[in-house]
Amino acid sequence: MEVIYKEEKLKELVGGYRMFGEKIAFVPTMGYLHAGHLSLVKLAKEKGTKTVVSIFVNPSQFNDPNDFENYPVDLERDLKMLEEAGVDIVFTPQKETIYGYDFESWVDLEKITKSLEGAKRPGHFKGVTTVVTILFNMIQPHFAIFGEKDFQQLRTIETLVRDLHMDVTIVRGPTVREADGLAMSSRNARLSPEARELAPKLQQALKAMKDAFRKGEMETAKLTKIGMSALEHEKINLEYLEIVDEVDLKAAWVAAPANRVLVAATIDGIRLIDNVSI
Ligand code: PAF
Repeated sequence: MEVIYKEEKLKELVGGYRMFGEKIAFVPTMGYLHAGHLSLVKLAKEKGTKTVVSIFVNPSQFNDPNDFENYPVDLERDLKMLEEAGVDIVFTPQKETIYGYDFESWVDLEKITKSLEGAKRPGHFKGVTTVVTILFNMIQPHFAIFGEKDFQQLRTIETLVRDLHMDVTIVRGPTVREADGLAMSSRNARLSPEARELAPKLQQALKAMKDAFRKGEMETAKLTKIGMSALEHEKINLEYLEIVDEVDLKAAWVAAPANRVLVAATIDGIRLIDNVSI
């Protein structure tokens, strides 16, 4: 496994891969890897013949500087996990390698990024779409793998690739969960013991809504009430719980099979998100 910091070296290696007809599958990450990331790497290895993983805690997607500073980092552990997973290249750039001097070419989507996470975290998706565009330009992968856990991010990247005619196929990676249903996330490491106990309630709320829908309840207001009552707790600060169209993420007036429920909540200071297709 090659660990690369510099753009020139990265381009030399991936250029060589392409010349020899290899299919490059790329997994972008912000490090502090867990089984969810490894499932994306596994998908990448199934899709391509060479696997590239980036580890870059992208400052421009953090609307809260405190969140950026406290983002967990353990490069040594990450590299060990990726080596064992059989990754070919790990790209760990410095901030200056991604955002050059006097950087001003931001990539910003106008509609799909404005609700839900976008409304709660202004500027977040602009940071994500910009860094992903830069990484795609540097690596020029045939496939890029994104987890369904960050569903709005996934739909945003799919829209970006469609609109800008990018020559990359986006592959969806299913959410990986702990035994008690909590969606895996690097942020879970920062949950206090009490918050960790409460965290599976997010998935329980989504499941309760899905079950009610499957039993015939279609009124979004009633379904949302069911979800909200599963999340009632003084330490859970619900940010949103919405039933939306799976494609454009617009609010659904009547629940339908092509809908998804997205939830975000802060538990004891740690922000978690989850979603489920109903
Ligand atoms: O999902 C993430 O970890 C990040 O948003 C991504 C896609 C690596 C961009 O920084």
